[in-house]
Amino acid sequence: MSEPEDRTVVVTGGAGYIGSHTCVVLLEAGWRVVVIDNLDNSSEVAIDRVRELTGADADRCAFVEGDIREPADLDRAFAVGDAAAVVHFAGRKAVGESVDHPLWYYDHNVGGTVCLLEAMQRHGVRDLVFSSSCTVYGEPEGVPITEGMRVGAQSPYGRTKLIIEEMLADVAASEPGWRVALLRYFNPVGAHPSGRIGEDPVGIPNNLMPYIMQVAVGRRDHLTVNGDDYPTPDGTCIRDYLHVVDLAEGHLAALDHIDRLDGAIAVNLGTGVGSSVLDVVHAARAATGQPIPYEVGPRRAGDVVAAWADPTAAAELLGWRATRTLDEMCADHWRWQATNPAGYAS
Ligand code: NAD
Ligand code: WQD
Repeated sequence: MSEPEDRTVVVTGGAGYIGSHTCVVLLEAGWRVVVIDNLDNSSEVAIDRVRELTGADADRCAFVEGDIREPADLDRAFAVGDAAAVVHFAGRKAVGESVDHPLWYYDHNVGGTVCLLEAMQRHGVRDLVFSSSCTVYGEPEGVPITEGMRVGAQSPYGRTKLIIEEMLADVAASEPGWRVALLRYFNPVGAHPSGRIGEDPVGIPNNLMPYIMQVAVGRRDHLTVNGDDYPTPDGTCIRDYLHVVDLAEGHLAALDHIDRLDGAIAVNLGTGVGSSVLDVVHAARAATGQPIPYEVGPRRAGDVVAAWADPTAAAELLGWRATRTLDEMCADHWRWQATNPAGYAS
């Protein structure tokens, strides 16, 4: 087998939040990276920063501005090098937006993945790491969540992830040679410890950590806690927050262990530890030194009460385990937010 130094990976959506962190980890491990991204929800500055952090030039970290729904754009990305694998992040990810504009989601996420798979077939690439989500479990059967539990998405966004998982299983079953990791992420937060790359949401953040950090930096007055009357110890919902660099390392582990996958296999990527909304507020206050005022508002429609991963399969199959704590997630997210208060536009 060739050394990572000789191997090229196509990264769809590599300018985005998780993609940019994964590119850093892959480049540091010796992979050559070709990013294809339409910059729909990201900035090319992220690619410049990935190159700056890793010392990679535009050859080792190539960028193709293009859309995965366009076969010609994909062909340009595959033409850059002899790709051994694809890591597929590109897609839209906001639950509320998916309710209002379901066709965007089916088009970018499902349609985009069909085009990508056709391009992989044209270029003879059969190894794929896909960004799935814990959202596929809907209201989970129990916690911690294992991969064998019932799936049932509750939004058009979640359904696109389930449809893609099933489509990938069908494709992998239809011809030999496919090795597909369906990585079900829990709640990625934090940033690269340099503070040079991080999450840069457009408009009002939907998710807890970016909202808290915008309060800490003074862009927003206060946090609204979406309900404190849930059946949990402090009444707020519980999630499995996961450092984005741990998550990025999960993709490297999936590529390193892809020969253990026969067909399409779902694997949870989480810490196995649940934290409440108020746990995150307290950790963020300690990390930022800011008061982070909050008010309690009504419950958010469709919120799952408690969800955290059983990460055993990831350890056994991929040799991967998250190591970074909630305090590190907050400290690193804050470094990014404080030094880039307006994100990449700062
Ligand atoms: P992100 O929006 O920062 O990154 C997605 C990238 O894909 C963006 O750079 C965007 O410009 C690009 N993109 C979108 N549609 C495209 C298209 N048609 N062609 C080319 N590029 C396109 O999101 P992220 O948080 O980095 O998420 C990456 C993936 O992980 C997504 O598939 C998302 O659904 C999944 N995921 C994210 C989370 C999370 O909480 N962030 C959790 C679970 C799963
Ligand atoms: C966490 C908790 C909120 C904001 C998202 C995606 C889901 C999947 C995982 C992609 C909840 C509460 C939030 C605020 C709050 N991602 N909250 N005030 O709910 O797990 O879902 O991440 O696949 O699809 O939707 O994460 O960060 O939105 O919320 O009280 O201003 O924080 O109600 O209890 P969630 P989140």
